[in-house]
Amino acid sequence: MSGPILIFDSGVGGLSVVPPLRRHLPDAALVYACDNAMMPYGTRPDDWLVARILAVCEAAVAASGCCVLVVACNTASTLALDALRAHLKVPVVGTVPAIKPAAAMSASRHIGLLATSATVARPYTDRLIEAFAADCRVTRVAADPLVREAERFLAGDEPDQAIIDTVTAPLWASADLDTVVLGCTHFPLLGERLIAASPRPIRLIDSGEAIARRTAEVAGDPTPRTGRDQGLATAPDARLARALARFDFDEPRLLIVG
Ligand code: DGL
Repeated sequence: MSGPILIFDSGVGGLSVVPPLRRHLPDAALVYACDNAMMPYGTRPDDWLVARILAVCEAAVAASGCCVLVVACNTASTLALDALRAHLKVPVVGTVPAIKPAAAMSASRHIGLLATSATVARPYTDRLIEAFAADCRVTRVAADPLVREAERFLAGDEPDQAIIDTVTAPLWASADLDTVVLGCTHFPLLGERLIAASPRPIRLIDSGEAIARRTAEVAGDPTPRTGRDQGLATAPDARLARALARFDFDEPRLLIVG
């Protein structure tokens, strides 16, 4: 199947996956689609979210003519991957918290999961922990305010370090926690701020590389990149345009959701 690679998230979080995607697929055209009209997703009810994610992804797949959909959102993937795969004709690559590599790397067997309230509580997350980190203690921290900080940061504002410090504080309460899973694609965008919040050296793990590797395997025949990539949004505005421009995307066009 030919076409660009479509990346989807509620907001700008999926942009954290763009650098690894461009490393693995340097010649492929990308389209970035976000549902910023309805962001954040992490505090929304599941039923509403499944219907909304299906509607937005269907519209974005049709508008982009993509060869593969990368759901660069843990909150969406841990809930709606099966439904998306059942509804869409293109291959779908999901993003789930990197519990498996984190457990493999942790020397102390105590890892943290920093994600949205939806993702930390999902049965999908329970199953990941059971399957890959059964011998680890896992400290789950719901960190929804960091989604907003990442959005502000990419739009050109200074993130509020006091908010980052407060939200991440439960991770530092046990001195033996040595590895933190960034289970929301917005959070790698705040990487240096998260390191600054940690009172001791800590390993941060996200899913970007794994997603890019998987996308390269299933992408088929991506359209070649010619200049800046395209953006689509349910509420295009100047702040989003600034964030997208940092990653070499054009000003976003309106994505109409049926
Ligand atoms: N970037 C999304 C994720 O990976 C969620 C952000 C939101 O709450 O909308 O979970």
